[in-house]
Amino acid sequence: MNLTPLVEPDRVHKSVYTNPAIFDVEMEKIWEKVWVYCGHESQVPAPGDYHAVTIGRQPMIMVRQADGSVGVLYNRCPHRGVQLVGNLKGHAGNSFVCSYHAWSFFLDGSVRAIPLAKGYEGTRMTKENPDCNVKRAARVDSYRGFVFASLAHDGPSLSEFLGEARVAFDDMCDRSPVGEVEVVPICHRVVQHSNWKFFMENQLDALHPSVTHQSTGIAAGRVEKRLKAERGAAPLYYHYLSAFASSFELWDSVQTINFPRGHGILKAYMGLRPQDPDTLEYEALLKQAYGEQKTEEYLSRSIHHVLVYPYLSVQSPLQQLRCLRPISADKTLSEIWHFRLKGAPEAIYRRSLWYYNLVNSPATMINADDLENWTKGQWGLASNGGDWVSFHRYAGDDRVENGVTYSNHGTSEAVMRNQFRAWTEYVSA
Ligand SMILES: [Fe+2]
Repeated sequence: MNLTPLVEPDRVHKSVYTNPAIFDVEMEKIWEKVWVYCGHESQVPAPGDYHAVTIGRQPMIMVRQADGSVGVLYNRCPHRGVQLVGNLKGHAGNSFVCSYHAWSFFLDGSVRAIPLAKGYEGTRMTKENPDCNVKRAARVDSYRGFVFASLAHDGPSLSEFLGEARVAFDDMCDRSPVGEVEVVPICHRVVQHSNWKFFMENQLDALHPSVTHQSTGIAAGRVEKRLKAERGAAPLYYHYLSAFASSFELWDSVQTINFPRGHGILKAYMGLRPQDPDTLEYEALLKQAYGEQKTEEYLSRSIHHVLVYPYLSVQSPLQQLRCLRPISADKTLSEIWHFRLKGAPEAIYRRSLWYYNLVNSPATMINADDLENWTKGQWGLASNGGDWVSFHRYAGDDRVENGVTYSNHGTSEAVMRNQFRAWTEYVSA
């Protein structure tokens, strides 16, 4: 299927969001080839701990193995093909046992026992045959505790694939006095009734907040202002919401940086360093660990979101991570995780927990307003009302240096143009 005519530099054909056959091409040529985020090492602390995870259309298991490494296996018994684990997470002990005929497998996937083995004697399904092992992901690697797997034997290393987007994980971990984060072992799972690309485009779309999130931002801003007048200060979490109603001029001044492979950064627009006792205590801990200069460097990186295309939005300054697991052309599962800075005061965790609950949770108006847009977007594109989706805003106005596109306007649709450049390279490879 030749998909290149569907993508022009400043517009794309609606079918890339709606056509199930194109969705299958994406799964095969992008998701089942690139490095996909599986989870954080702290989700599987002890040997036998596992998390079920989907890579493209493939059900997989991330498991802590007996030697302490993290492995990724296909969630499929080699006997009759039944999934080995039915839970999202659990503890397998020292082996996975299939619930159908009790074939068992060590944590690295190798077959441990075939019950009533006599019945297989003389056939090809004996323990010596590697086909009796659970198939493993072709490649597994991690970066600062974040585990990725690729189902393709060849291709760039994880570090090459992430490229400049590695800063997502550096920025998150460097904010801990010991340089590490641990997962908060619960996440929101939300099914978006829209194509996965809606979410990825939206994450760096600085044109939409002052429209979509205006009512929530204005309401929060009113309370914030009143509290400041009455008490001299308002808790930081009012700012999380009121910032959405910032002026158009402010949004337009926030730069996006668009890397090869569709990755990107929306620079910071919120102030996250109030001078309250909790923040001062936290910053003193960082200075103790890293010295004055490094601490300043770590705390002043200008990042709101980092995107790892095509599935991750990392909000490193507040230790949030959202990961997409596409289901179909018009349905996308999102996992919304958050992390705790190891060695940081409890108050700093509470502060990012507020962001998790107020902005990224499906129970907030911010997330709900976005979800409504994406659903209506999917419905609109499925109609006969038009064929093209426009990404013309500030086309030709961005600055390109060494393959990196810097927007001169925060509201430039450079983000989407860059994502579709990567998309075209992947699907036409
Ligand atoms: Fe939004």
